[in-house]
Amino acid sequence: MKLPNIKILNETDKRLHQVSKEVKFPLTKEDKDMINDMLVYLQMSQIDEEREKYNLRAGWGMSAVQLGVLKRIFVIAEEKEDKNFQNYIIINPEILSYSEELIYVGEGEGCLSVNRDVTGIVKRHARITVKYQDMNGISKTIRVREDVSIAFQHEIDHLNGILFVDRIDPKNPFKDKDLMREI
Ligand code: CO
Repeated sequence: MKLPNIKILNETDKRLHQVSKEVKFPLTKEDKDMINDMLVYLQMSQIDEEREKYNLRAGWGMSAVQLGVLKRIFVIAEEKEDKNFQNYIIINPEILSYSEELIYVGEGEGCLSVNRDVTGIVKRHARITVKYQDMNGISKTIRVREDVSIAFQHEIDHLNGILFVDRIDPKNPFKDKDLMREI
């Protein structure tokens, strides 16, 4: 695999705190190429040999804004079994409903734009239903749960200019832990 030539913005970049804009269809060639680059990068970052070879940090979600493109697009590459990935390409997402049940990542969330250790947990819904458009502009609905639900909420936050660290209260980084289930 060839490592895509992309540059991921760091949290200090102001663009990461801006709200991304609705995507118009048809997608441009640049949009399509970017989506492909993001997925290849995420997959390579999860394959041990590639990650070590290119000194990558593992990640499974990325939003266009992390490349400086303020469009409401994100992708997720979820490794199902050895080097087999379930790819999600989500455009113009809108959360239709949330489960009441709350969950959090016990070891803390990570983000390819946050290159430091962060203490604290983020409150997320265990299940969400999301309306979105696919690469052809077709409207679809998907229900996601557990870690994929967290990834979706993390990426939708990116589209709204929010980083996971913004959701952690430094004075009380484990706030409401007892109200949530750890995954
Ligand atoms: Co992120």
